Amino acid sequence: RRLIFIGPPGSGKGTQSPFLKDEYCLCNLATGDMLRAAVAAKTPLGLKAKEAMDKGKLVSDELVIGIIDEAMKRPSCQKGFILDGFPRTVTQAEKLDQMLEKRGTKIDKVLNFAIDDALLEERITGRLIHPSSGRTYHSKFAPPKVPGIDDVTGEPLIQRKDDTAAVLKSRLEAFHKQTEPVIDYYSKKGIVTNLHAEKPPKEVREEIEKAIK
Ligand code: AP5
Ligand code: ZN
Repeated sequence: RRLIFIGPPGSGKGTQSPFLKDEYCLCNLATGDMLRAAVAAKTPLGLKAKEAMDKGKLVSDELVIGIIDEAMKRPSCQKGFILDGFPRTVTQAEKLDQMLEKRGTKIDKVLNFAIDDALLEERITGRLIHPSSGRTYHSKFAPPKVPGIDDVTGEPLIQRKDDTAAVLKSRLEAFHKQTEPVIDYYSKKGIVTNLHAEKPPKEVREEIEKAIK
């Protein structure tokens, strides 16, 4: 299975990817997570990406396409993958098609995490993450067993720097302007399934399983 998760910030992409990854042995490629790791490690790539990310703007197509092209070479990604947060522009989608064509494969399904903008601020401002694993919590909707602590490692949870109401505004603007056209791009190919991303995580998960069976 070769899947794309697409949807606005806070729609639940990163919440849903871990279980699918385990159940179907897919490699999980989240450009946001990879970029945040590069920023934290202060690599040349991270230094280039940081400014745009802090402002809630997209980083350059060139940069993220390079990351994905490299990641796709991993042996663990040969059987199948979930792309979370990529492609986010039509240019990225076209480049991805070319990359896959070269490898003799293609995208099977695009899962569109459709949700009303009004629900996203509460989800974003309450989110807590465990940076090294990418595990996600929410102070109200999915609290950790001990406040501020990762259930698995006992390490502290943090808030993402871009998870403020103000930065969310520009992330949403980028989504509507630059990423919604990507949904149309794949709709024309007939491979998009629209999810009811406002529902509780368990129900969203069931919708995904039905779509990829
Ligand atoms: P990225 O990390 O991809 O952020 P995003 O797209 O804004 O998406 P989020 O991670 O905020 O949302 P999510 O859908 O994963 O939500 P989650 O499941 O955590 O990108 C960050 C930045 O990197 C971008 O702004 C850009 O600068 C750059 N970037 C990345 N990729 C790029 C690309 N391809 N091109 C250019 N630039 C790129 O859920 C959110 C919260 O809600 C959690 O607390 C969760 O517990 C809770 N929650 C989840 N589901 C539910 C539910 N069903 N009910 C109730 N609560 C829920
Ligand atoms: Zn995410």
